[in-house]
Amino acid sequence: MNEDLINEIRAKSDIVDIIGERIPLEKKGKNYFGVCPFHDDTSPSLCVSREKQIFTCFSCHATGNVFKFLMDYDKMSFPSALKYLGDRAGILVKEFKGKRTEKYSKYYDIYNLAVRYYENNLMATFGKTARDYLNGRGLNEDVIKEFQIGLSLNKANDLTNLMVKKGYDLSDLNKIGLSNDSHDIYSNRIMFPLYDLDGKVVGFSGRVYDGSKDNKYVNTKETPIFKKGENLYHYAAARPEVRKEGYVIVMEGFMDVIRASTIGYRNTVALMGTALTSEQIKLIRRLSEKIVLCLDGDDPGRNAALKDGELFLKAGVDVKVLTLPNPDDPDSFILREGKDAFTSYINKAIPYTEYKINSLKSGINMSSTEEVADYINAALKELTEVKDTIRVEIVLKKLAKDFDIGYNTLAKRFSDLKGKPKEKVVKIDVQSKKNKDKYLKAYEQIIYSMLTNPDVIETVKDENLLLTESMDRMLLQEIIYYYEKYGSINIPDFMTYLTDKDELLARLNDIISDNYSDSISKEDLNLYFKVIKENNVKKRIDYLSKKLREELDPVKQAEIGNEIARLRIGDNSNG
Ligand code: UTP
Ligand code: MN
Repeated sequence: MNEDLINEIRAKSDIVDIIGERIPLEKKGKNYFGVCPFHDDTSPSLCVSREKQIFTCFSCHATGNVFKFLMDYDKMSFPSALKYLGDRAGILVKEFKGKRTEKYSKYYDIYNLAVRYYENNLMATFGKTARDYLNGRGLNEDVIKEFQIGLSLNKANDLTNLMVKKGYDLSDLNKIGLSNDSHDIYSNRIMFPLYDLDGKVVGFSGRVYDGSKDNKYVNTKETPIFKKGENLYHYAAARPEVRKEGYVIVMEGFMDVIRASTIGYRNTVALMGTALTSEQIKLIRRLSEKIVLCLDGDDPGRNAALKDGELFLKAGVDVKVLTLPNPDDPDSFILREGKDAFTSYINKAIPYTEYKINSLKSGINMSSTEEVADYINAALKELTEVKDTIRVEIVLKKLAKDFDIGYNTLAKRFSDLKGKPKEKVVKIDVQSKKNKDKYLKAYEQIIYSMLTNPDVIETVKDENLLLTESMDRMLLQEIIYYYEKYGSINIPDFMTYLTDKDELLARLNDIISDNYSDSISKEDLNLYFKVIKENNVKKRIDYLSKKLREELDPVKQAEIGNEIARLRIGDNSNG
């Protein structure tokens, strides 16, 4: 993959469009502002510049180009971000292996092989019982293919032997959860591949199917490529569907997701039986700000909806709850009732707050005035969280009717509870620039100007500028190198170039997020050079003075003394 193609794709992907499709942006002056997704934020501290093609958060100092945004926000790898943007721009991107992918490519290869092996087993003669089980559950060949469902055999070390024969190390097989010593982890189970956020197979869930009493599912352990709490079933496949539909449906099990796909609902992800983590909330929020929680209809499912709904609400997303009949899960409901019934349930999903108000009601003793009053107060308090005033009025009317209380009484109490809207404190870090000394500021302004104004690069070369901080020195050399190699330079492309040089990139980001001015006058530039040179001289004098104190040889002492004297009077030639 060559740099020119990468830069072309970058240039054809407007960062404002890409970020704007994910978080709401508002135009102010030349720039666009939104709520920063990289820290707990409520005020619009994320600035996106169309001109510079970078984003910068004033508060948490996250910054980068369009690739970096997709990598951090959509959790794409660099190659997938490239592929994604290439597809959008109509540029063909061939298979491209980044550093990270390469590091684990062996593991992905093993999993791909395992998937094909298990798929073949299921289709073989001896897979008939398992196929009958799947067909009996209404899963036909198309679904089996779409979700790459397979079968592990009732033998102790089938897969392990195959992999070892193919030249893979036992230690790797152990590490990624396919073998235990030389034995297979999975035997005699229907195998459901689990995918990472890019859609690569990184694990399995194996289900019993022939009535044995083992655990219903055995899942891959945590491995370097499979982290349960940071993953969701069907995430990568759901992404384009969610974009199309405008919302995402969150379910409990992967069987629910698989079933929903049979009636054309593919904007779905599954939690896979674990407690919802904050990482998963972030991931779901990245798919869409509109969420329909569609958990199981049994008591644990309803309780989970209360708990998870609250977490989503706190994360600032518009979450609705769909309650299935008890004890259905989406799988059983869809199988029995079909698509139209499910669609009408989706349409009936209610905002979380109303769901909570309804569920608070169950269990109160209607003949106790005290319990009823407590409930109404609690309900009104919840209602203060609802932004849509029309919905507020509907709920108030319903409460008034259900409990035979005057609407005005409720409305008055409601507005008392609501009180004045809480002021949101805009917390913007005191510019860290202020804490930097003038030498550092001079370095940074020069480095920044080199990126926005290539003339400065020539001047820096002419001046033989020497930076004493090694990171800055390297950054400066990289800029010169890049400029000489490509004949031009801009911030977003240079950021791409630094992708694998973590420390330099961090240093660059630190500089960029500090708001240095784009244009710099010749006089200012000279002033900065002067500041840097003075600093260099001062450092050299400090160094020599120290050396002088330690030097015992009087001849050498004299030499050092002379050099210090020369430096003090401003003659810094070495002669
Ligand atoms: P469920 O018990 O609701 O599974 O667990 P399900 O989707 O209804 O599956 P079927 O219909 O019986 O085939 C929901 C999720 O919890 C995890 C699985 O990821 C499952 O998708 N789970 C459940 C386990 O990991 N182990 C178990 O033993 C059970
Ligand atoms: Mn089920």
